[in-house]
Amino acid sequence: MDGKLFDARFGEYTAAVEAYLSGLFEEKAAERLPWGRLYESMSYSVMSGGKRIRPMLTLECARLGGIRDWRTALPFACALELVHTYSLIHDDLPCMDDDELRRGKPTNHVVFGETMATLAGDALQAEAYRLIARASELTDAAKVDAVLALSRASGADGMVAGQVLDLTGYGHDRETLTTLCDKKTGFMLKAAAELGCAAAGAPEELRGALAEYASRLGLAFQIRDDLLDVTGDEKTFGKPIGSDREEGKITFVDVLGVDGCAREVSRLTEEAVAALDGVEGGDFLIHLAHRLSERDR
Ligand code: IPE
Ligand code: IPE
Ligand code: MG
Ligand code: MG
Ligand code: MG
Repeated sequence: MDGKLFDARFGEYTAAVEAYLSGLFEEKAAERLPWGRLYESMSYSVMSGGKRIRPMLTLECARLGGIRDWRTALPFACALELVHTYSLIHDDLPCMDDDELRRGKPTNHVVFGETMATLAGDALQAEAYRLIARASELTDAAKVDAVLALSRASGADGMVAGQVLDLTGYGHDRETLTTLCDKKTGFMLKAAAELGCAAAGAPEELRGALAEYASRLGLAFQIRDDLLDVTGDEKTFGKPIGSDREEGKITFVDVLGVDGCAREVSRLTEEAVAALDGVEGGDFLIHLAHRLSERDR
């Protein structure tokens, strides 16, 4: 697959996700509810220029899994993006990372206050499961699969566990940081692949390969994130530089150094690509892994 084809499919997925997500808020704005500010807060973060990597993974995995039309997997893809968005709103709160900039804009609590930001996160999480349940073109078996995958990845033994480890200083060497980052980031990328496979009713072997790919990709993604927190440019990255150190976090940069992180990202990217051996039509995902390993935002 050449760069042009990759960009075209990337653009198609992104546009479909943006359209689906913005549709969730259009009707609500018109209803003029007494709690309308909550919807403004939710929509502010959902529609603020995220890269949409996770929903893109879901859609591409659904396509590889043989779904008739990848668009029918949009409710699953966007459900996961809502959970991701809730996790970021809460992650930025003063009681967590205390950050004031995300995607180049003031964080949710800076604009809407801590109370509304907390509640917006809560509501986004519930809304995610509603999207899965009402996905009209997918089977009940696929929906159960999706609920299990998303709740496992984001819940008390998944992303939330990762946040607990992150915020209580568990990570101090390569092994502990790997566990932590796997949970706080890798699990959600893996779930994105699983949701696509669930939507498509993909065969077991393919599910395993795609989950392994996404899990390796997720770890590489978080290490690149740690690296950019040190070497990135605030305007491009859209987040404050040096915030991990300011918060007293130990990250992969402390343990592996800047060059070591870059090498680890390359190594994990190659492992992700290797997991696709034998997956027919995996070239979009191969391209994606390489793009993400060099990302600046
Ligand atoms: C940010 O994820 C949180 C991490 C796991 C590093 P992304 O970098 O995917 O965030 P957006 O959605 O594109 O802003
Ligand atoms: C957050 O990791 C991952 C989540 C589960 C939200 P970070 O705290 O490193 O993410 P950023 O840098 O704020 O996006
Ligand atoms: Mg954090
Ligand atoms: Mg953070
Ligand atoms: Mg970070």
